[in-house]
Amino acid sequence: MPSALDPKLRRSIAERLQYYRDLGIYDFYRRPVDALMDLHSAESKPYDAAAPVQQPATPVSRVMKEPSSTLMPKAKLTEVGPATALRLIREDIGDCTRCVLHKQGRKQIVFGVGNPRAELMFIGEAPGADEDIQGEPFVGRAGQLLTNMIKAMGLGREDVYIANIIKCRPPGNRTPERDECETCSPFLFRQIEAIKPKVIVALGAVAAKTVLAVNSSMAELRGRWYEFRNTKLAVTYHPAFLLRDPRQKKETWKDLQMVMKELGLERASVSDPKE
Ligand code: URA
Repeated sequence: MPSALDPKLRRSIAERLQYYRDLGIYDFYRRPVDALMDLHSAESKPYDAAAPVQQPATPVSRVMKEPSSTLMPKAKLTEVGPATALRLIREDIGDCTRCVLHKQGRKQIVFGVGNPRAELMFIGEAPGADEDIQGEPFVGRAGQLLTNMIKAMGLGREDVYIANIIKCRPPGNRTPERDECETCSPFLFRQIEAIKPKVIVALGAVAAKTVLAVNSSMAELRGRWYEFRNTKLAVTYHPAFLLRDPRQKKETWKDLQMVMKELGLERASVSDPKE
């Protein structure tokens, strides 16, 4: 006769299962309660203690709440087209209350915008005031610069896909907390899985560090290729940083040219992207 689960543990498991369902993970194997408790305590360990450890040569995200050996992702996203997959992810996010940002003044969730079949995907940090109002990433001043950078690559916003690590505006545009990144980024990873871009560009330190699970400076991170789940990933400066320090535009342009070469794009204009 199976023993009754402690109500607190039962509730905790139920919440955890709901969380995985929200992430699109539906299939689970049964394991003894002890093993589940081990799993639970392993997940609440500090950042660096979580297994498995990735090699820095091909930094791949430590992937927040990545399915462990007890969990199997459903092949759901690969069974539908990218536009439908993105719609399903948006539905799963719902009117999200998973982190504190939902009660800190966000007006709406800023999911992502662009071509669901884009070869190139940009990942930013979090929506600012303009994005919060319009519901679209990178529409403020930094967004205008990003749009110009995209144009300088010979593309338009409609050709690429743009999303953020965090889908809700942090109050006062503060830097997102680690737990906020950990809670929200699995949805971004599903967006990447749906779109299957050839190249990802991480804009700024928060995007780069969250996706690559490294803690290096921007100067160290940019200018080279990484692999993120079989997709090439480059890191460059965030457009908001470039507005503050335009001297770094030259280096950014080098990063973008590296991306263009990879995508077989011709340089569209003779000048560097302007503000
Ligand atoms: N900065 C970001 O990182 N993302 C946006 O959407 C806007 C500004």
